[in-house]
Amino acid sequence: MTYILDPAWHAEHARLENLAGLYDPGTAAICDQLGVTAGWRCADLGAGTGTVVKILADRVGPEGEVLAIDADTRFLEPLAGGPISVLAADVTSEPLPADRFDLAHARLLLEHLPAAEAVIESMARAVRPGGWVFVEDLDWTTALAVDPPSEAHERVIRACHELFTGTPYDPSCGRKLPRRLRRAGLTDISARTTALYLSSDPARGLPGWEMLVDQLAPRLLGLGLVGQADLDAFHRLWHDGDSICFGPLMVSAWGRRPPDDRRGE
Ligand SMILES: C[S@@+](CC[C@H](N)C(=O)[O-])C[C@H]1O[C@@H](n2cnc3c(N)ncnc32)[C@H](O)[C@@H]1O
Repeated sequence: MTYILDPAWHAEHARLENLAGLYDPGTAAICDQLGVTAGWRCADLGAGTGTVVKILADRVGPEGEVLAIDADTRFLEPLAGGPISVLAADVTSEPLPADRFDLAHARLLLEHLPAAEAVIESMARAVRPGGWVFVEDLDWTTALAVDPPSEAHERVIRACHELFTGTPYDPSCGRKLPRRLRRAGLTDISARTTALYLSSDPARGLPGWEMLVDQLAPRLLGLGLVGQADLDAFHRLWHDGDSICFGPLMVSAWGRRPPDDRRGE
């Protein structure tokens, strides 16, 4: 496994819940648009704390099935039961069952995986003919959009980019998703992009944004990519009651296995 974020980081559960809170409404809306409903069989890869698993379970009901897969299932185990089952697996090396699901979903996972394309292919094989593959990843193209201009913000975001260069993390993953879905043989491909409006909050700051930088801070400092003064200025910005930014762009893309595809037979 090549995951750049430290699962043992002291606030990882809070960080993931925060991220999920930002993106769950968009994910749920697309699930509804794709028709996720009672009785569907779904898989969520890299399920994290399971917020999407719960969204899916609410829709598929007791006669449906939601398989929550993650290399680290600590936060998922308590959700097991009813339609939800939990599988500890590295999705880059352990195959998914073929022709099984109506929908296979992964959010904020492929951007971490050098084998992203192979994982999309395995998701395409795991859905039944006519089933949907739905993937969501960030693209850092909008991450420098901040007003008023801030040198500290710019230095921190550029430092993150530099850090990513030496790792498997792909900050351009989002834009690559639609073509990757097409190359995996899927059709009816579409996508929605969302840049979040992040507005500084004197009381709370921007926990999702700030905790990501906190997670990376020891490595950013260790490699000399930023100084502590930049990090402090970055945090002050999100409490100043004035600054706004867009954060990275979330690209949500989906495609379906052709209904007459017999590749599994
Ligand atoms: C940033 S979190 C995203 C969690 C969730 N999908 C969400 O959007 O809220 C990425 C998750 O992928 C899992 N992960 C990373 N590499 C993995 C791999 N090779 N196989 C399975 N899970 C992996 C991590 O353990 C983590 O829970």
